[in-house]
Amino acid sequence: MEIQNDQQTLSANDTQTILSRLASRLSCRDFDGSRIAREELLLMLSDALEAPSSCNQQHWHFIIVDDPQQLARAAELAGGNPHFRTCSALVYLCFQKGWTHDNFSVVQGVAAAGYHLMLSAHLRGYHAIWNAGIGDPEGVRAMLDLPSVFDCQGAIALGRAHPDAPARKPPRRPLNSVVSFQTFERPENTIYPVENANTYPFHAVSRDSNPYAQWDPTQWSWAQLADYRAWSVWAKSPLNGVYTSRRQGEASERELDLIPSLPTEAKVAELMPWGGTSTVTLARRLPLDASLTVVELHENNLHFIQDRLPREGITHSVEGALFSGTSLPFATQSVDLVVIAQSLEHMADPAAILREVRRVLRNEGHLVLSVRNRASRYGAEWARSEARGQVPLQGPFTPIGPKRLQQLLCANFEVEELHGIGQSAGGDSEVLKEGLDRFRRRIIALRASPA
Ligand SMILES: Cc1cc2nc3c(=O)[nH]c(=O)nc-3n(C[C@H](O)[C@H](O)[C@H](O)COP(=O)(O)O)c2cc1C
Repeated sequence: MEIQNDQQTLSANDTQTILSRLASRLSCRDFDGSRIAREELLLMLSDALEAPSSCNQQHWHFIIVDDPQQLARAAELAGGNPHFRTCSALVYLCFQKGWTHDNFSVVQGVAAAGYHLMLSAHLRGYHAIWNAGIGDPEGVRAMLDLPSVFDCQGAIALGRAHPDAPARKPPRRPLNSVVSFQTFERPENTIYPVENANTYPFHAVSRDSNPYAQWDPTQWSWAQLADYRAWSVWAKSPLNGVYTSRRQGEASERELDLIPSLPTEAKVAELMPWGGTSTVTLARRLPLDASLTVVELHENNLHFIQDRLPREGITHSVEGALFSGTSLPFATQSVDLVVIAQSLEHMADPAAILREVRRVLRNEGHLVLSVRNRASRYGAEWARSEARGQVPLQGPFTPIGPKRLQQLLCANFEVEELHGIGQSAGGDSEVLKEGLDRFRRRIIALRASPA
């Protein structure tokens, strides 16, 4: 087919209109469950085929799954992507192996077609999301009856957004932080610490096995932590229940059982709740006249939490405030309760933060703190397997054992009550209120007052 170069015929206005429309695409994780006709799906796929491919080989293959039962099976396999059940179709991005021409050329070609497919869907008024999280590769292969010479590393979900689906475009890094001319140049805080090594071979790294991952947040600067956590929090949409951990189970509720009775119009601060999962539990617990401020390192986290809370049915007004890791944004002795729910172990300098908490707490105020316990079964499991993989989206963390916790607290706080929560490495939330066994539980939660 001969195509005229029609670039000259587009006015600057038309160009801008098209580009703005393309830029407004955002991932949808909340579909309305309606079907898209196959003719329409095929139109979008034929748009996708306009993408470039290495040597024009077009070694791609797209498997469209639009049968509701098979979509349910796909969701089961994927585990973490519930939108597979409610989208209209999943387009599995497959490619023939043995033709990479180095540099993953075949994979690059499929990716080009994948994004073209998303843009086509967007311009045609549909919604889409790309998913690498398709689940166990062999399970997917069996479901798709995919020959062994083909592989599949992702699927694009297509559908119509639910009318209430989140509509905020996830933030983008500033242009000058990711683009440089001629040679590599990039702000320090956007390059994250890794274990020292002479070389970093690409194939030595996978999600579950990453010899270079630096899990100790004290080896990161606050600015690096802020940067990492700020972009990754938008890896999901701010939907009800997002980022709720199966391992945590009911433990959040039990941690917050330690909240004391509060004075009228109490001022409450929560530190570094990342995606706001703990904020939801906390906001439900507070008396209506209490004010709650969540303190985070980056505005991206605050926007995510602010979008999320109404979707969780939280009517309590929650303020957001920023801190750089050094001083908390409160006047001295102005806060009645500070809550740090499993975030101390994510901090670059937990001792400094606890000093700051002491500064901002009123003398009769309280700290409610919980940490993942290094001396628990979970802590051992963390060291044996979790910490060998990629650091999580919430940022690097290292569980804290009872001794270290005591060292961190003793200069500024007196522990009033201490609970050990959860016996197993995950899931249960049995509470132990007395005895030494508390210090072997998955989570140590405590209430302390200024010393
Ligand atoms: C290769 C790739 C894999 C992705 N995998 C998933 C996934 O498994 N689950 C998910 O919810 N989002 C996934 N996403 C969507 C990203 O989280 C999303 O594109 C990003 O947060 C930017 O948001 P936007 O697409 O709304 O601009 C993936 C995106 C890409 C490009």
